[in-house]
Amino acid sequence: MKFRKIITVVFMGAAIVSCSNIEDNFFSPNNTTTFDKSYESQINELLDSMTLDEKLGQLNLLDSGDITTGEGANSNVAKLIEQGKVGGILNLTSAEKINKAQKIAVEQSRLHIPLLIGLDVIHGYKTTFPIPLGLSSTWNIDLIEKTARIAATEASADGINWVYSPMVDISRDPRWGRVAEGSGEDPYLGSLIAKAMIRGYQGNDLSLNNTVMACFKHFALYGAVEAGRDYNTVDMSKVRMYNEYFPPYKAAIEAGAGSVMAAFNDINGIPATEDKWLLTDVLRKEWGFNGFVVTDYTAIPEMVNHGVGTDLQEVSALALKAGVDMDMVGEGFIKTLKKSLKEEKISIDDINLAVKRILQAKFELGLFKDPYKYSNDTNRAEKEIFTKDNRTFARQVGSESAVLLKNQNNLLPLEKKGTIAIIGPLGNNSVNMAGTWSVSTDQYKSISLLDGVREVIGDKAKILYSKGSNLSYDEEFEKNVTMFNKPIPRDNRTNKQLLDEAIKIAEKSDVIIAALGESAEMSGESTSRVHIEIPKAQKDLLKALLQTGKPVVLVLFTGRPLVLVDENTTVPATLNVWFPGSEAGLSIADVLFGDVNPSGKLTMSWPRDVGQIPVYYNHKNTGRPLSKDDGKFEKFHSNYLDVPNDPLYPFGYGLSYTTFKIGKPELSKNSIGPNDKLVITTEVTNTGNYSGAEVIQLYIHQKVRSITPPVKELKGFKKIFLKKGETKTVKFVISPEDLKFYNNDLEFVYEPGEFELFVSDSSNHKFTNTFFLTKEEDN
Ligand code: BGC
Repeated sequence: MKFRKIITVVFMGAAIVSCSNIEDNFFSPNNTTTFDKSYESQINELLDSMTLDEKLGQLNLLDSGDITTGEGANSNVAKLIEQGKVGGILNLTSAEKINKAQKIAVEQSRLHIPLLIGLDVIHGYKTTFPIPLGLSSTWNIDLIEKTARIAATEASADGINWVYSPMVDISRDPRWGRVAEGSGEDPYLGSLIAKAMIRGYQGNDLSLNNTVMACFKHFALYGAVEAGRDYNTVDMSKVRMYNEYFPPYKAAIEAGAGSVMAAFNDINGIPATEDKWLLTDVLRKEWGFNGFVVTDYTAIPEMVNHGVGTDLQEVSALALKAGVDMDMVGEGFIKTLKKSLKEEKISIDDINLAVKRILQAKFELGLFKDPYKYSNDTNRAEKEIFTKDNRTFARQVGSESAVLLKNQNNLLPLEKKGTIAIIGPLGNNSVNMAGTWSVSTDQYKSISLLDGVREVIGDKAKILYSKGSNLSYDEEFEKNVTMFNKPIPRDNRTNKQLLDEAIKIAEKSDVIIAALGESAEMSGESTSRVHIEIPKAQKDLLKALLQTGKPVVLVLFTGRPLVLVDENTTVPATLNVWFPGSEAGLSIADVLFGDVNPSGKLTMSWPRDVGQIPVYYNHKNTGRPLSKDDGKFEKFHSNYLDVPNDPLYPFGYGLSYTTFKIGKPELSKNSIGPNDKLVITTEVTNTGNYSGAEVIQLYIHQKVRSITPPVKELKGFKKIFLKKGETKTVKFVISPEDLKFYNNDLEFVYEPGEFELFVSDSSNHKFTNTFFLTKEEDN
């Protein structure tokens, strides 16, 4: 009887919810989602009517393949949905197909419970923005939020209601290819970005048809895998977790994220997927998370490989008891929990709790009111996906993510005249421009560098192109990094023939744009690298181009920090463009020819050598720090015999076509008490020849405290735009709350004492001011 009531709800509510305008919700400061407890009685009622199989079905997330056409319509997944044995599917796209799948669940299963429809919408949907590491380099939080808002609108127009993003894993290891998917090494910046993306995806009302549920990931510490090898072990003190790696996960919860994905890795001997301390004590009890936890892809069966259980039954029970609610593709829950219940290895309460959380998410999404809210308007896709406006915005974001690493004698921006050579295996390739994890992008619609430059230049200059080299000399390697529909077709001419052609073209040109670096699939999942340099074939090409004596601009494509010591010495100008997204060629050309002044700043340190890794700006001082900063070796100090300590390009670094003078900060007081605020003001002047934006960064260091402090920490930043000659005052407000850290007892405290600070255009600067934090209000 009870389930009939639910059916009524399902069909009565099939009204179309109007789609809200982007401007309406994504700039409001408090638009976090709070979960509505009013669904409780409906959830309990539904739960009472469910068989054990149906309950386990809700916990089962399957990779759908295409279950809705041809033979697939009768596929196993479709049958399981009909039997109520599937709670959600991933990797199905298009409103029409999703509508069909949803119909099987809603009209053919006994309880008519709609499906969660998940997808990796990582940096855009069809309109693709720069890879997340590039996005973070904009240091533009509103802009990042808007990318997520657009991604949600496009994905939902195609039927998707749940996105596996943002990835908020802090990482200090560029060998790990997944740094491309994150926001770099800093917990403060990472937290702001995590919140912005969740606001962008979820808006302030999840029941609308253009907002989707976010799933932040990978909880926890995936970015700290040993040696940068993917899926590897993590061993870390709790105090480090809390201070340096946890903040963005906590921030995601504060922003109201509806779900979280557990990480693949183990932590201090326990796979995250069965870590009760993480998934229940920290996540729920300490941080108050009330959404649901999904595993990563097949992570439950993988626990057998980790060595914490002998078979699927044992590890599935461990995962459930730890706090996992949904099993992604592992089929451990659906296949074994019944037996575990019978054997009293788990309780029905454990199962019920997980089921309730999944049902809660479906209620929050408004799927019980209207299961077809995302998929019944098949015209939405046409109107809302890959629109002119979205693409224009992607072009802007692509430019804003570019980081100018070097610009000797102001070689850049280039003039739109003469003969310009574009040379390199990434110069005339569209399919790699969107970068890794762009599963829904129509790769062939991305704009290559050659096409972008042609469009921006028009007939003002002559453009020549040559490939110059293959991506790598190693054909096998090349195969492994050009998969997922992102070929860079191998040129079967000899290396010499390729090079000769390039040199010929170079010699006819006034300037050379060398388009080199990684292919899109050299970063992302399962792309760890030990030699994080530009592949040898391309380095040889670059050397030959430099030998022509023509000015060379290196346009660097990469998903991670690379070791660029040689290039930094020999190449006059380097513009790092990451993978800028669907409008890549235009985004890059806008910067190269000065229509946009670059303002990107690195969010990860770029090492001089792999041997320095991890190298990061907010490290500790040690008892034997260097006494000078000339980079020279000092005996019995903490350094290397052969390479300086500092990175080649520090966190926060990035040049502009103009110059900025940042004045010495002025402090409102020398000392603040527990209820005070410190106001820090600095004058910034654009002293160069172009208008442009600069990221003004505030770093603070506590001199003495109960646990060793980092040498500096980012505590604020402002991105400002200054016209040529213009001056603006930048203001930061710091309260004792901003000076808190986790002490050795994991209490979040501030400790009185002396602090130093500086305000600069990168993390590489000396302290200019000091202030005190006192116990009492003494001023
Ligand atoms: C990745 C996740 C992703 C999932 C689903 C896994 O391999 O680690 O980040 O969301 O697949 O595609």
